[in-house]
Amino acid sequence: MTSLPTIDRASLVATRRDIHQHPELGFEETRTAALVADRLRGLGYDVATGVGRTGVVGIKPAAKGKCVMVRADMDALPVDEANAVPYRSTVAGRMHACGHDGHVAIGLETARRLAGVKLAGALKLAFQPAEEVSNGAQAMIEDGVLDAPRVDAAFGIHLWNQLPVGTIGVTAGPLMASVDEFEITVHAPEGGGHAALPHQTADPILVAAHIVTALQSLVSRRRDPLEEAVVSVTQVHAGRAYNVIPGRAELRGTVRTFGGRFWKEAPTLIETVAAGIAAAFGARAEVSYRRLTGTLVNDAAMAELMASVARDVVGADNVRRDVRTMGGEDMSYFLQRVPGCFAFVGSAPRSGSAASHHSPTFDIDEESLVIGTELLSRTVLAYLTA
Ligand code: NI
Repeated sequence: MTSLPTIDRASLVATRRDIHQHPELGFEETRTAALVADRLRGLGYDVATGVGRTGVVGIKPAAKGKCVMVRADMDALPVDEANAVPYRSTVAGRMHACGHDGHVAIGLETARRLAGVKLAGALKLAFQPAEEVSNGAQAMIEDGVLDAPRVDAAFGIHLWNQLPVGTIGVTAGPLMASVDEFEITVHAPEGGGHAALPHQTADPILVAAHIVTALQSLVSRRRDPLEEAVVSVTQVHAGRAYNVIPGRAELRGTVRTFGGRFWKEAPTLIETVAAGIAAAFGARAEVSYRRLTGTLVNDAAMAELMASVARDVVGADNVRRDVRTMGGEDMSYFLQRVPGCFAFVGSAPRSGSAASHHSPTFDIDEESLVIGTELLSRTVLAYLTA
């Protein structure tokens, strides 16, 4: 087995903290992309920028053999950081609250370790924009990230605060949920009216409340209980005065599944429930439904390969094979096209609980950066020599 240069822990942590201090939202990752491109060029990679708008690709070509892709997402969230750490975000309303700063640092350290090593195939490093808004992966695919050289397998990780540092989750099959979004607008044909004269108009607020309640029974009564699903209404907007019945009410929410019949039927079920309830109250409902991300499915053989590397990195007792979540990930777009595996690298401190992803107090145990780098760089070697 090829030996790899030791991990430069100080530089790994410094890179993560630098990116943490300068968070950028999806498709605005210009500083991050420039930093990534500079480093990759310095390491001798062939670098393409602007792949999927702000994405960066580094290639270490090979005359023969397979091509393996490592993917790291780069975007931050519109969150105000509440941590009082020295490497706190310097941008108000922007924060790396999901750990993608760590993913970039891990991707770059993986690139550094593999740069001087003779590989039995080509290596492609994809630094992806806009994971949080769910179309960065698609943008990179449209710009040909999976072609020239043609990618045979793709791997990636997510730092994961639901697992303690020192553990790794590698699950075969469906891992992360499909993400759909719906919007329902309830209209009163009369356009609203006086709060004291409710008999003269349909009431979109009352109708919306019934719709919210009825949507909750889709999961309990219209779904096979053996299929996982979530329906959450997350936005309600209506009205501007205490004494006016508004003309419209708007609802927004999300459906999460692992595919299957409920996934297929959800758009129709939501449309039928909204339209039927609105009609019963003399109102009208308009529904728009969008599928954002498909279920993320890990290839069984690739998951086995990554799990065996994970056992070498953290020991068999610390590899979990059953971690799944109803959260979504656009890594699914790559894994729908090429086999591969996406793993969770525990990043919660060993003692005590950790703030959840997307929260203003989110932070990681930085030992997870070392583990993530070991996992990805050794997975590349294992795949190319398999
Ligand atoms: Ni994330």
